[in-house]
Amino acid sequence: MSDGIHIVDVDLGERCYPIIIGPGVMKEPSNLLPYCSEDQVMIVTNETVAPLYLDQLKQTLQGVEVHVTLLPDGEEHKSLQTAETIFDHLLEVPCDRTTTLIALGGGVVGDIAGFVAGCYQRGIDFIQIPTTLLSQVDSSVGGKTGVNHSMGKNMIGLFHQPKCVIADTEVLSTLPARELSAGLAEVIKYGLISDSAFFSWLETHIEGVLNLESDLVAYAIERSCRTKGEVVAADEREGGQRALLNLGHTFGHAIEAAEGYGVHLHGEAVAMGTIMAADLSFRLGWLESEEVARIANLYQRAGLPVIPPQELTAEDYLRLMAVDKKVKKGIIRLILLKKIGEAEIVSDYTTAQLKATLDSFSKACRLSCHRLLARILLRAPSADIIFGLFAPRGMFAHFDDFRQKKQQSRHPAARR
Ligand code: NAD
Ligand code: GLY
Repeated sequence: MSDGIHIVDVDLGERCYPIIIGPGVMKEPSNLLPYCSEDQVMIVTNETVAPLYLDQLKQTLQGVEVHVTLLPDGEEHKSLQTAETIFDHLLEVPCDRTTTLIALGGGVVGDIAGFVAGCYQRGIDFIQIPTTLLSQVDSSVGGKTGVNHSMGKNMIGLFHQPKCVIADTEVLSTLPARELSAGLAEVIKYGLISDSAFFSWLETHIEGVLNLESDLVAYAIERSCRTKGEVVAADEREGGQRALLNLGHTFGHAIEAAEGYGVHLHGEAVAMGTIMAADLSFRLGWLESEEVARIANLYQRAGLPVIPPQELTAEDYLRLMAVDKKVKKGIIRLILLKKIGEAEIVSDYTTAQLKATLDSFSKACRLSCHRLLARILLRAPSADIIFGLFAPRGMFAHFDDFRQKKQQSRHPAARR
């Protein structure tokens, strides 16, 4: 690292590529030009990002023939129809196999543009310039591209690795706060699945990251990309361990599908889904109650929801989870947590255990006044009170376990 610039290499042999992270990295021609093969590029961006950053990017690409396809904004446009408008434009220009496609935008733009790059004339080069935190730490890295189908999210797509990823931290200054928090859900995910030290680092620095303190943000992105890059290098096409990156996603996708896209952001759904995965991990005797509380607390501090929509029934969840790409022969494989920093792909839980988790989140539940009063009298830390107040009933399992341990630790005998 120098001048606040971090570089992470995704080690895929001859398809190895750098992720260049830091303030202003999009403005530096030497970060981009070596990857624009024949000096003709097609920038794919959307109507929100273009007014903010398109001119800046064109400035960086001086001397290159630049074409632009402008997409409407929104997940609902991540479709084959939208992909077709990009194909049309590529053919109209005309662009050939030496054209480089550049995705400038969040995960939606990156996923469609990557998909088009993978298909156009059987595959052309592309560069990812992710402009949301989520896309900088997750969707731009690893080569998963695709579009949605009316029957399922990301159901049509292919693996196509970019030539490089340019994660300019300055662009995050225009990102709505809610989108920033949604990106943090994926950042926290890396700590949870394989990096407990990073999870602890986030517990110390989450407010600084939310405030976009430059060094902290760049470090959080670097550490996230390093983990993702390692997982992708070991299992590019998700034959095994790459599925760990989907912690919280099977529950989260069910929430997104039930509510209709757009009610919760993807990262918000992942946060709620991870709480459900943590609940099941606790029921299996893996996570400690303190760990469940730490996870919920960090999500809340990151501005993320931790209570899934309670009107969904266990049957709703099971039906929606059954279309997940991780379902094999009718068995829903789940990513669960052995502890903070260690995840596992699990299919040998019992239906009763999964149903217990789903049931616990599907009933509207409020603490009765006397129960709340009792907790306050027990001097619960404020985060616990808030958590307890709004937590669905199932959460009391680990909440009560947590409280009991706290009380024991206050007892003089426990201190010896
Ligand atoms: P998004 O692309 O919809 O961007 C969120 C919003 O922020 C949009 O309105 C966008 O126009 C706007 N925006 C983008 N950059 C901005 C900036 N710098 N300033 C102001 N506004 C800005 O959403 P997202 O969270 O980036 O990505 C979600 C998508 O990514 C989903 O479709 C999801 O399926 C996909 N995804 C893919 C992968 C993968 O591995 N390919 C991984 C995770 C998520
Ligand atoms: N976002 C999960 C993956 O890239 O595999």
